[in-house]
Amino acid sequence: MFKIKTYNTISIKGLSRFGRDKYEVASDIGSPDAYILRSHKLQGEALPASVKAVARAGAGTNNVPVAEYTKLGVVVFNSPGANANAVKELVLTGMLLGSRGILPGMAYVNGLTHMTDAEEMSKLLEKEKSNFAGFELQGKTLGIVGLGAIGSMIADAALALGMNVVGFDPALSVEAAWRLPNQVSKMENLQSLLARADYVTLHVPAIDATKHMINADTLKVMKKGSVLLNFAREAIVDAHAVVESLDAGHLGKYICDFPEPILLNRPDVYAMPHIGASTEEAEENCAIMAADQLMDYLENGNIKNS
Ligand code: MLT
Repeated sequence: MFKIKTYNTISIKGLSRFGRDKYEVASDIGSPDAYILRSHKLQGEALPASVKAVARAGAGTNNVPVAEYTKLGVVVFNSPGANANAVKELVLTGMLLGSRGILPGMAYVNGLTHMTDAEEMSKLLEKEKSNFAGFELQGKTLGIVGLGAIGSMIADAALALGMNVVGFDPALSVEAAWRLPNQVSKMENLQSLLARADYVTLHVPAIDATKHMINADTLKVMKKGSVLLNFAREAIVDAHAVVESLDAGHLGKYICDFPEPILLNRPDVYAMPHIGASTEEAEENCAIMAADQLMDYLENGNIKNS
């Protein structure tokens, strides 16, 4: 019986689905063989000698000191693709919120608490609704930076909505290239994608090469009034440069899953509390994939997604 220590926000429901005759999971388990965690920061945390593997129930591994653990012989896994659908759905939500007067319109309606007569309210809204007009996504161009599991699912959805899709991925794997719909035009570099797109969505990992990939210079290449979406990682975008571009009337909107103090309370920024992967289904899928990988490693020595 292997012992797996879990940290908060791991879907125990997902973990109880299978194989529980082979492993025991608990948050306070003694001498664990492995850890399974989500956003808990293991940086700098000394591992008990019993730990042979760590699995992140999510795509990124920025909260785990991978190089340090690898040197100790501890294998680190992630769960690529397991929460991709949840992220895709939130990105689509972000695009729709950024295109229509949904949030300001609802805030206006909810502010009418002083009104008591439904007919009067309806007359007022007839007059005011032009303030909340927006744009359709159909016919617009979406630029997807990073064409892995999430990027390719977003491409499919955007095509179904009648958008044109352009993509760029300097590290496109053969597998990902096969998965990608034919209608996606592949751009040679980031600049050519940014110059073409009305909406730009980022789906690359936070590594040295992608730090502040969107900065004052790259923002200038984007179309005036375009919308930037970041549901990948905070470090990829220089938020100060974004605010300057918004203030200068160049960037139209910034929609992200990473609130920072300078982004709050602006009508041109919609910041969500890092909930891209926060659905019951995604949490279960990630927990199952992580446990499956750990067990395959502990039992058979197989290494997948390390
Ligand atoms: C990921 O890396 O897949 C997400 O950050 C997952 C999460 O929100 O835990």
